[in-house]
Amino acid sequence: MPTLFNEKRSSQPFEILLDQSTIARRVAELGKQITHDYAGKSPLLVGVLKGCVVFMTDLMRHIELPLEIEFLFAASYRHGIRQEEDIILGGGTNVPIKGRHVLVVEGIVDTARTATTILQTLSKQEPASLEIVTLLDKPASHRTKISVKYKGFSIGNEFVIGYGLDNTQLYRNLPFVGRMIDR
Ligand code: IMP
Ligand code: MG
Repeated sequence: MPTLFNEKRSSQPFEILLDQSTIARRVAELGKQITHDYAGKSPLLVGVLKGCVVFMTDLMRHIELPLEIEFLFAASYRHGIRQEEDIILGGGTNVPIKGRHVLVVEGIVDTARTATTILQTLSKQEPASLEIVTLLDKPASHRTKISVKYKGFSIGNEFVIGYGLDNTQLYRNLPFVGRMIDR
């Protein structure tokens, strides 16, 4: 059967870091943990586009609760001589979340600037609780202090693609997580 991505093709600019079954097992565990922690509640999952897409659709099917979903869009723009980043939020930031149990769903937390900006913005609306779930976390890269309550995997300071994550908007459709390699 022809496959879109041949895992054994050596000319590809990436190698597999987390295969499909490893991801599936961990996502199911996270869903179970969230189901347990939010028992009796109706959480609002807020996905951060675009990196959340694959993770969120898999994760939500492992959460056995009457949940709701919304999305917001985050983009960072570098500026100035120190290359500082402004995080611009768009999309569902107008959805009322006061009194809701909000769980922000991220594909990856790197410097943690995006997640910190989102938490600061959403917390102003006084949700009943506010936590983050991310498939991947790069703890050594954090540049702000943040508590990531739920994470699939901690990884090193490497650039990864697939399962929703991109390199120049490509590779989001890979069913596994790969690590970009220099050839
Ligand atoms: P932050 O540095 O935590 O604010 O993350 C900013 C954004 O950079 C993430 O939401 C991703 O979209 C992107 N990003 C950071 N590291 C990676 C990576 O290894 N692969 C793909 N995207 C990444
Ligand atoms: Mg990206």
